[in-house]
Amino acid sequence: MSDSKDKQRKPLRSTAWFGTADKNGFMYRSWMKNQGIPDHAFDGRPVIGICNTWSELTPCNAHFRKLAEHVKRGVYEAGGFPVEFPVFSNGESNLRPTAMLTRNLAAMDVEEAIRGNPIDAVVLLTGCDKTTPALLMGAASCDVPAIVVTGGPMLNGKLDGKDIGSGTAVWQLHESLKAGEINLHQFLSAEAGMSRSAGTCNTMGTASTMACMAEALGTSLPHNAAIPAVDSRRYVLAHMSGIRIVEMAREDLTLSKILTRQAFENAIRVNAAIGGSTNAVIHLKAIAGRIGVPLELEDWSNVGRDTPTIVDLMPSGRFLMEEFYYAGGLPAVLRRMGEAGLLPHPGALTVNGKAIWDNVRDAPITNDEVIRPLDQPLIRDGSIRILRGNLSPRGAVLKPSAATPRLLRHRGRAVVFENLEHYKERIVDESLDVDENSVLVLKRCGPRGYPGMAEVGNMGLPPKLLRQGIKDMVRISDARMSGTAYGTVVLHVAPEAAAGGPLAIVRDGDWIELDCEAGRLHLDIDPAEFERRMADVQPLQAPADGGYRKLYVNHVLQADEGCDLDFLVGCRGREVPRHSH
Ligand code: FES
Repeated sequence: MSDSKDKQRKPLRSTAWFGTADKNGFMYRSWMKNQGIPDHAFDGRPVIGICNTWSELTPCNAHFRKLAEHVKRGVYEAGGFPVEFPVFSNGESNLRPTAMLTRNLAAMDVEEAIRGNPIDAVVLLTGCDKTTPALLMGAASCDVPAIVVTGGPMLNGKLDGKDIGSGTAVWQLHESLKAGEINLHQFLSAEAGMSRSAGTCNTMGTASTMACMAEALGTSLPHNAAIPAVDSRRYVLAHMSGIRIVEMAREDLTLSKILTRQAFENAIRVNAAIGGSTNAVIHLKAIAGRIGVPLELEDWSNVGRDTPTIVDLMPSGRFLMEEFYYAGGLPAVLRRMGEAGLLPHPGALTVNGKAIWDNVRDAPITNDEVIRPLDQPLIRDGSIRILRGNLSPRGAVLKPSAATPRLLRHRGRAVVFENLEHYKERIVDESLDVDENSVLVLKRCGPRGYPGMAEVGNMGLPPKLLRQGIKDMVRISDARMSGTAYGTVVLHVAPEAAAGGPLAIVRDGDWIELDCEAGRLHLDIDPAEFERRMADVQPLQAPADGGYRKLYVNHVLQADEGCDLDFLVGCRGREVPRHSH
């Protein structure tokens, strides 16, 4: 039954479609009724959009039709009218050249789908890496009430009785294969065991990181980030989110009331505490840009600094998302942080109408190995570092928790790869002039150069060094890195080489200095020579073959700006468009 008070409240957006007894109302209602929807669904109750990124081509989100059914149960129970709609599903594992190329396309799809339809509030079904930021970006640009329901991580991967983590195991096993430590049969036998249930990557990769970010931002109910995809409690959470979104529509609890500067500062701190992905730097900036919250790269250093990483999950640590949930999940982390004064804004509002601290102050913490006490952290300071210098005047990022400590201050000679193809061809060359102190430099893999900013920044080491037992080297690029990956990897160099950034002028044999503590990345060549080389740099022209790729290359912002399309930044509101009948 609809809430009888619905009719006394300020009219919902959907009444502009369904609320009139004229020709237009007839047409909007009549066509909807072909789905078997009764009259009373149009009585002024909130219409709840369920924005679904289900796709069999996005295996991490392939269980979302069932998830949507449970959201609907909650919506009906609370007296709302659920309407499920599909949006572009950009799955990380299949999409070429990279799912990042279409994050903004998906966000644009979400925004226009919400604004153009009779939707009062929306449930965002997110899972695979880019689906979380894309849906939050699109909803933020409309500023409707919205709640995130994540699909949840896969169960632990298994190989020979041991746990293996999504993505992380691939990088490790591939290095072992190249080093001759395992054979092809052993390598391939990990395939099925690594991905053995519905859900997203079970490491603290980008999907899990962004799920934690959504929870830390206050845009989901507590525990949304970690409940395994196949755990019945995931479906209870979907049901409860369905109930809550109806209340949010009635309360007009819009995203801008939740996505405040305080919420982003909490999320930055949480990212350090969980050992989260570097991709969060780009995605949080893009989400903040859509809702109009100022967020700078230096916020990651200034706000996140001195936050210990206490979640012992791969790729930085030992465990997987299943253990994380059983240990208490994100509420347990937030509680530990809050008790130590490390949650900068405990009063930040969340979707259930309560302050984030009120949600977690009594959260159980059941395993100190997985969610460590603050005085026994995995990393003493797990904040993502921002590096500036003549090689990255607009910044670059490094994740210390995934790096080798002795390489965080390093001087080495560059071995340069002009693009990914050049890297693939050259890295296997046994005569390549490279040793463990060299700095591998990869160009033209940034937002414009690739295009789409591929996750190739953790480029594999030369096989001849792997055979010597070398496990890590300093690597620098304008690319991104999978959240499941690790290494002393400088990423997101801005401006990128293809946009005329100084990365373009690095040559074989140049000395490069990295000083993570000082936040410095320096190309040590004569300043006059630096200027001479810069004068010859030509920014990349958009590909002539047109289509979305051309739009993207012409309008994508650099990594320090969140890689959104320039014309999509900002909140355009939820005003009802005029009708055309
Ligand atoms: Fe989809 Fe990792 S590939 S979550």
